[in-house]
Parts: sequence; structure tokens; C-alpha cells
Amino acid sequence: MTFKATLLAGAVALAPMAAVADDDLTIGFSQIGSESGWRAAETTVTRQQAEARGIDLKFADAQQKQENQIKAIRSFIAQGVDGILLAPVVATGWDDVLEEAQDAEIPVILMDRTVDADESLYLTAVTSDLVHEGQVAGEWLAKEMDGQPCRIVELQGTTGSSPAIDRKAGFEQGIEGHDNLEIVRSQTGDFTRSQGKVVMESFLKAEGGANICALYAHNDDMAVGAIQAIKEAGLVPGKDIRIVAIDAVPDAHLAIANGEMNATIELTPNMAGPALDALEAYLQSGTQPAKWIQTESRLYTAADDNMAVYEEKKSLGY
Ligand code: AHR
Repeated sequence: MTFKATLLAGAVALAPMAAVADDDLTIGFSQIGSESGWRAAETTVTRQQAEARGIDLKFADAQQKQENQIKAIRSFIAQGVDGILLAPVVATGWDDVLEEAQDAEIPVILMDRTVDADESLYLTAVTSDLVHEGQVAGEWLAKEMDGQPCRIVELQGTTGSSPAIDRKAGFEQGIEGHDNLEIVRSQTGDFTRSQGKVVMESFLKAEGGANICALYAHNDDMAVGAIQAIKEAGLVPGKDIRIVAIDAVPDAHLAIANGEMNATIELTPNMAGPALDALEAYLQSGTQPAKWIQTESRLYTAADDNMAVYEEKKSLGY
């Protein structure tokens, strides 16, 4: 029996109770899918975090579809789980199902992406500063180009997702005031390696490789796909076309170590640690977390020992 079911069986209103043992908790996790290495690592870390705390984790893979996430959340509600972790594929369209969870007195925690819904509908959001990540990428490129003209192509993440919206806005802020920098093409690659390659091929065809000076990709997987397209076009990634992306997955560190990529901004895959800490504290003692629990971001460039970081990260579930 879940903690929630025990509570309802005892006809007690859902109020945070003292001393709820972790191994009494059943938590539902609605994951987006497995579009990127980073996503795979987040899933691995979430399972590990739940296991280490003795939490019964019910995992649902939405295969990139919001309708599957909504179904999974309704199923978690019907099962009477004690809490729900939600990595929302897109930002809009969550109000109804979040209200249903609230009516059932099941706290929902957002992980790695935000939603356009009233913040009273979720307990907290554990995310990085997605705008800041894009801004760091833009500022890095502005510094790197040091006034030289540069025509930039952009691979956006999933259309309508908060990282695609915020990382685009942040990058534009980062290059603002640098008239030498211009985004000449911008299209979604859906956060996947395969689409990153396909869309980069179309950019190279449309612009001509010699007319593209830099690629900004909203994640490393798309950048790694694009590296393949750049090589197949007879150009040298990291030199002919500078590449900056986000996530800091092992393959990006390897590409930087090999000189095929220039910079990446780290996104921790450990969203579940802070999320479960907040959920447990809420369920055990009613502690209200801050509405935003911010994870740290860090820029890696060729100045770092990327081979060492690759070795550290390569077995972490990416
Ligand atoms: O929401 C985080 C983003 O989602 C990651 O940067 C990307 O790799 C993933 O698909």
C-alpha cells in the first residue's frame, strides 16, 4: 500500500505527516523519452536516486509525446502515488492534468523543463537557468570571434519546449550588440543526433559551407550529429565551423578533446536528487520548497582537460 493509500484508508486528510519512511513512498516519473544522451543519464540517475532511498519508482516513457505524459500522470493519480516527477516535453497544455493531481492532493515536481501554468499547480521546479545557458554560449562566441564577422546557424531543441525557447532567447541576448555576429539559419533538430545531422546538411547545402562560421546547437547530441555532416561536406568541425552547444555529455568532451567542437555548457543529469529531497521534506514535515530549485551550469572549452572529464563521465549512464 502506498503512503497515500494508507493515509486515505485511515480517513485522514492529506497533510504532511511526520516520519514518513522513504521506503513507504511510491513515486511516479513521467519521462519524455530517450532523445539524447543527457536524457538517458537523467533517467539512470533518477532510478539510482529512488533505489538508494528505497522509493518505489513507477517509470513511464512518453516517447516524446505530451499525450502519453498526460495519460501516465492520470494513471499515477489513479494508482494513488505519493508524488509525481514530471519532465514536460513542451511548455503548454498542462493545466488540466496538474489540476487533477492537485485535486487528488498529489504533489508534482517539474524536472529539467518548465511549464506555462500557474505555479500553485506544482510543488517546485528543479531546472537549470535555461536562458543563462544560451547567454553563456552567445557570450563565448562573441569573445571567440573578437569582432570578426561570423554567420551563425542554430539547431533548436524540440519546438515548444522550454529549453528551446529559453536557450534561443539567451543566445540572442549573449550576442546582442555584436554587429559582427548574425544568425542566418535557425531550425529545430528535435534534440536528436539524427535530426542534428539532417538539418546541418540542409544548412550546408543552402548556405555553402564556406559561408557558415559557427554552429550553436541547443544540445550536444545535435552538435555531434552536425559534426558528422560537416565532415562529410569536406570541412573541419571546430575549425572551419566553430561549435558551441549545451549538456556536456561525454561525447561532447571527447569532441572538444579531439578539436572537433569548441565549447559546451554543462547541465547536470541529477535533477532527481534535489527533487526527491524536496518531495520527502514536504511529505514528512510539510516543508514548502522554493518554487525554483536551480541547478548549476558550467562552461567547458578546450582549455579544460576534456579527456579526463570524458573518462569520468563515460560510465555514468549517458
Ligand atoms: O530539458 C533538457 C534538455 O532535454 C537537454 O539539454 C537535452 O539534451 C534534452 O533532450
